[in-house]
Amino acid sequence: MSIFSLVTGRPGRSGFGSASTAEEVTAGIDASHLTAIITGGAGGIGLETARVLALRKAHVIIAARNMKAAKEAKDLILKDDENARVDVLKLDLASLKSVREFVDKFIALDLPLSILINNAGVMFCPYQLSEDGVELQFATNHLGHFLLTNLLLDKMKETARTTGIEGRIVNLSSIAHIHTYQNGIKFDTISDKESYSDKRAYGQSKLANLLHSNELSRRFQEEGVNITANAVHPGLIMTPLFKHSAITMRILKFFSFFLWKNVPQGAATTCYVALHPNLKGVTGKYFVDCNEVEPSALATNESLARELWDFSNKMINSLKA
Ligand SMILES: NC(=O)c1ccc[n+]([C@@H]2O[C@H](COP(=O)([O-])OP(=O)(O)OC[C@H]3O[C@@H](n4cnc5c(N)ncnc54)[C@H](OP(=O)(O)O)[C@@H]3O)[C@@H](O)[C@H]2O)c1
Repeated sequence: MSIFSLVTGRPGRSGFGSASTAEEVTAGIDASHLTAIITGGAGGIGLETARVLALRKAHVIIAARNMKAAKEAKDLILKDDENARVDVLKLDLASLKSVREFVDKFIALDLPLSILINNAGVMFCPYQLSEDGVELQFATNHLGHFLLTNLLLDKMKETARTTGIEGRIVNLSSIAHIHTYQNGIKFDTISDKESYSDKRAYGQSKLANLLHSNELSRRFQEEGVNITANAVHPGLIMTPLFKHSAITMRILKFFSFFLWKNVPQGAATTCYVALHPNLKGVTGKYFVDCNEVEPSALATNESLARELWDFSNKMINSLKA
């Protein structure tokens, strides 16, 4: 998709473009046979994603760290459609313990699982460590989602096998994946304070989201599993994500207003990739404005994806209490 398409909203090959909303790209889709988990589904793009998936009759599990916001999100969705199936479960991605507790609670519900949307994220935080002592943007945006996905994989595989319904994993990456550290991921100094850059650490975590979905996709194909994994850039949407750079971003938005989307448009690509029948069997791809585009060379580097996978596994094992 070109800047021209972004600004004008002209649809791409999928028939959708930057101006398409989540409701538009899922119009007529019946998702009543699907259960979906959406991390960070209590606010921003995640809430709109949860609302629209529920509108299409999916059973939606909002995974959120702030339970008050999650309950308000649930009420808002039920106000829209009193028959919506929405549940909320606590999940703090910056705590590996919380990720494990979330999965235990979800498994105890004995529900199937076809859709996992790894949406939650933080951006441009001042240097900070997670509960497990890992740099916060890497910990929240990548490591928490990496563990969450791994712990849910058996459930997703079982659902795909017993129902014949394709599973889909959608990772919220960003165009910012191109602005990372040299060599992409600074494995040796991942939580190092001296070399920390709030912008590059965000880019690194968003590159990790892309590498993660590509490696998942490669493994699913190798195993012959009926699950796809793709990454998306939702566009530029003014949400609380920008709280650490609010003034700069508002000034930037003033001069580049034509590049920005509203929240319903911002949730469109995620909902398209999660639900649309056009994408049956499509895996290991990156989508912007509901159309497939090429990410950076680092993002398609298979050995980097494997290295990140092994690194993340080792890190999680070393952090086990
Ligand atoms: N907005 C954009 O322009 C843009 C552009 C490119 C990519 N993205 C990506 O899109 C995704 C959604 O962004 P957004 O704009 O909707 O941001 P947002 O409004 O700030 O929403 C992010 C959500 O993630 C949750 N979250 C943050 N840390 C968490 C943690 N440790 N555990 C569980 N949940 C946590 C937040 O919960 P709290 O309310 O509790 O903080 C919030 O619900 C992010 O992955 C972001 O990187 C956004």
